[in-house]
Amino acid sequence: EGVITVDPGYKNTGSCESAITFLDGEKGILRYRGYSIEELAEKADFLEVAYLLIFGELPTKEQNDKFHDDIKAESIVDEDVKKILDAFPKAAHPMGVISSLTSALTAFNPSSVNVDSEEDMYKSVVRILGKFPVLVAWTFRKKEGLPLDYGDNSLGYVENILKMMFVKPNGEYTQNQILVDALDKLLILHADHEQNCSTSTVRIVGSSHAGLFASLSAGISALWGPLHGGANQAVLEMLEAIKADGGDTKKYMAKAKDKSDPFRLMGFGHRVYKNFDPRARIIKKAADEVLGDLGIDDPILDIAKGLEKEALEDQYFVDRRLYPNVDFYSGIIYRGMGIPTDMFTVMFALGRLPGWIAQWREMRLRKEPIGRPRQVYIGETAREFVPIEKR
Ligand code: CMC
Repeated sequence: EGVITVDPGYKNTGSCESAITFLDGEKGILRYRGYSIEELAEKADFLEVAYLLIFGELPTKEQNDKFHDDIKAESIVDEDVKKILDAFPKAAHPMGVISSLTSALTAFNPSSVNVDSEEDMYKSVVRILGKFPVLVAWTFRKKEGLPLDYGDNSLGYVENILKMMFVKPNGEYTQNQILVDALDKLLILHADHEQNCSTSTVRIVGSSHAGLFASLSAGISALWGPLHGGANQAVLEMLEAIKADGGDTKKYMAKAKDKSDPFRLMGFGHRVYKNFDPRARIIKKAADEVLGDLGIDDPILDIAKGLEKEALEDQYFVDRRLYPNVDFYSGIIYRGMGIPTDMFTVMFALGRLPGWIAQWREMRLRKEPIGRPRQVYIGETAREFVPIEKR
C-alpha cells in the first residue's frame, strides 16, 4: 500500500489508455482516430464517423451499407416502452425521460448484457444505434403532443432522425437539406471527446460488467448537468435572460467575474482546452451559415457574438484562458432548426452516443479492471456507540 494522492475532479489523473480521440488543449487540436475534426465535419457523415470511432477505421462503402442495414433492422422499439413514456408527467425534462428509457431497454432486451464475444458486442451496438433515435423522437413528440411512430428506413440515418422528429401527424414532411447537413455536422462535432465526465461514467459503470444500455443511461445522466452537456441549454437561457434584461452584456460580464456571485458565463471555459475549442470555431461559422440559409435573423446570435468579443478581450477571461466551448453556439443552431431548448442536451446525447459506445467497447476489449478509486479518510477515528436515550 503506497501513499494515496487525492486529485479532486481527476484534473491530473489518467484513468485509461485509449486509441480513440486525441485532444491537445493547449493547441486546440481534436482528432478522432487520427482524423482532424475539421476534415471529418467537412467531408464525412455522422454514420461514417460513428463507425470510425467504434471500429477504428473509416468504413468502405460495403461496410457502411451493412452497418446501416444492421442498424435499421434494430430500429423497432417494444410497444410497451410507450406505456413508460405515457407515465411521465408532461413537464418531465427530456434528459430524465431519455436516460430512463435507455435503461429500460435492458429490461426489454435482456440478452444485450451478454457481450462475451465480439459478435454479441456488435449486436448490442447496432441495437442501441437503431433504437436510440426512436427514443429521442418519441421523447420529443410526446412532449409536443404529437403521435408516435417509427421512421422511414429508406432515408439516411440523420435524415431519418429529423423526419421522425418533425413529420406532421398527417404524414406530411418536406426534407430540408440545410437542416440535414447542419445536424450531421453538429452530431459529428459532439461524437467523442475522450475522458470527460459522461464518458468516464460510461467506462466506470461498464467496468462492473453492467450492460451497455445501463452504462449509457448513466452517461446520459452525467451529461445532463449544466457544467457538462446541460451547458447548451443553459447558454440559451442565459442569452434569453440577457436579451430580456435589455441586452446589457457588460452587466453579465461583471456578474461572471464577481466571485461573490455564483453566475458563470455559460459556454465559456473548459477543463482541457486552454485555447479556442476547435469545435466552437466550426459551430460559430455553421451558426452564421445555417441561420443565413434559413433566412433567420436571430438577435440572440448578435448577443452571443458581442459577449464572445468582450470576453476574449477581458483580462479576467484572458488570465484564466477561458474561451468559448462547443456549447456556446450549438444551441443557436438547434433553435434555428426548431428544436426546443430543453431538447438541446438530448441532441448532444444523440451525437455522443458513438463515442460512449466506442469507449465502452474499448474498455471491455482491453479487459480493463473494475473502476474503483481510493480515498483519503478524514472522518472520526474509532468511537464508542451511545444508546439513543443517552445522546
Ligand atoms: N465564467 C466565469 N468564470 C469561470 C468560468 C465561466 N464560465 N469558467 C471558469 N471560470 C473561472 C473559475 O471561477 C476559476 O476562477 P478562479 O481561479 O478565480 O477561482 C477559474 O476560471 C478556473 O475554473 P474551474 O472551475 O477551476 O475550471 P474547471 O476545469 O473545474 O471547470 C468548466 C471547467 C467547463 C466546468 C467551467 O469552465 C465552467 O463551469 N464553465 C461553464 C459551463 C460550461 O460551459 N460547460 C460546458 C463545458 S464544454 C462541453 C461539455 O463538457 O459538455
